[in-house]
Formats: sequence, C-alpha cells, structure tokens
Amino acid sequence: MRSSHALVALALCALCAPSCKPPPSTPTSSDPPMQTATPATPDAEARQIFAGRCAVCHGATGIGDGAGAAALNPRPRNFHDATWQASVTDAQIENIIRVGGAAVGKSSAMPPNPDLVSKPEVVAALRAMIRGFR
Ligand code: HEC
Repeated sequence: MRSSHALVALALCALCAPSCKPPPSTPTSSDPPMQTATPATPDAEARQIFAGRCAVCHGATGIGDGAGAAALNPRPRNFHDATWQASVTDAQIENIIRVGGAAVGKSSAMPPNPDLVSKPEVVAALRAMIRGFR
C-alpha cells in the first residue's frame, strides 16, 4: 500500500510539474498602447483642449479665424496682436477661460469652462499657449 501511494504521488507530481512552470512568454501584441482619455501632462491636455474647444472660434493658431468665428460679433481677437497681449494680465486671461466672456463684461459667445476650474495647471498651460501666439 505504502509504495502504491508513493507511486500515485510520483505520478501526480509528474503530471503536475509541467503546469507548475510559468507559462511560456507569449509575444506581446504589436499594437500601440491604448490612448488614455486624459493626456499625461497639463501642456498636452491644454493643446488637446485648444484644438478641440477653442480653435473652432479662435483658430488653430489663435488668429481668430476659426470656422465658428465668422458669425460672431465681436469676433474673437487675434492672439498674435502685441498691443492686446500687453493690455491683459495672465490672471485676466486665465479668468476668462474659466468664467467665460459674459462674466467679465465681454461677449457671451466666449463660453465658460467650469470643468477647468479644478485644473489650474491646465488653465495656466492654455494661458501659456495664448501667450505663445504673441
Ligand atoms: C464659440 C466661440 C468661442 C469659443 C469656443 C472660445 N472662445 Fe474665447 N472668445 C470668443 C470671443 C467671441 C471672444 C471675444 C470676447 C469679446 O471681446 O467680447 C473670446 C475671448 C477670449 C479671450 C479674451 C480675449 C480678450 O479679448 O481679452 C480669451 C483668453 C479666450 N477667448 C480664450 C479661449 C479659450 C482658451 C477657449 C477654449 C477653452 C475659448 N476661448 C473658446 C469666442 C470663443
């Protein structure tokens, strides 16, 4: 009896052993990693937001020639205008991005972005983009 137990144990062990080894490494998929919804850096998020939300009015390069701008009165200004750049503070730019035009006595066509209130680093990156058009 004793030896047959040992034999069974040996047989089980032999059966089990291969499956106890780590699985052979499968080749990883050549697909690029999945795009995450939120970009990694505030700068990247700001660029994505500008292209997705702002460019329709302000134009991809901030000139104010977006497809939605033609019908607006007043039209969004040219962010490349040095006189305007010198006339506004960083805080004013960041504020209108958060609260929209109407809240600061400007055109209500400039929409508020309440979702960015909790993302000051993204608002700062948008302001930096606008300053960069100068
Ligand atoms: C539906 C069109 C529209 C969209 C979308 C829009 N804007 Fe505007 N924006 C305007 C208009 C029009 C003005 C000018 C308001 C005025 O002069 O009364 C303006 C003004 C501004 C100003 C202030 C310029 C000034 O005259 O002092 C900033 C800064 C600005 N927008 C940034 C942004 C950013 C950043 C986004 C995207 C998050 C954005 N806007 C999205 C239409 C738009």
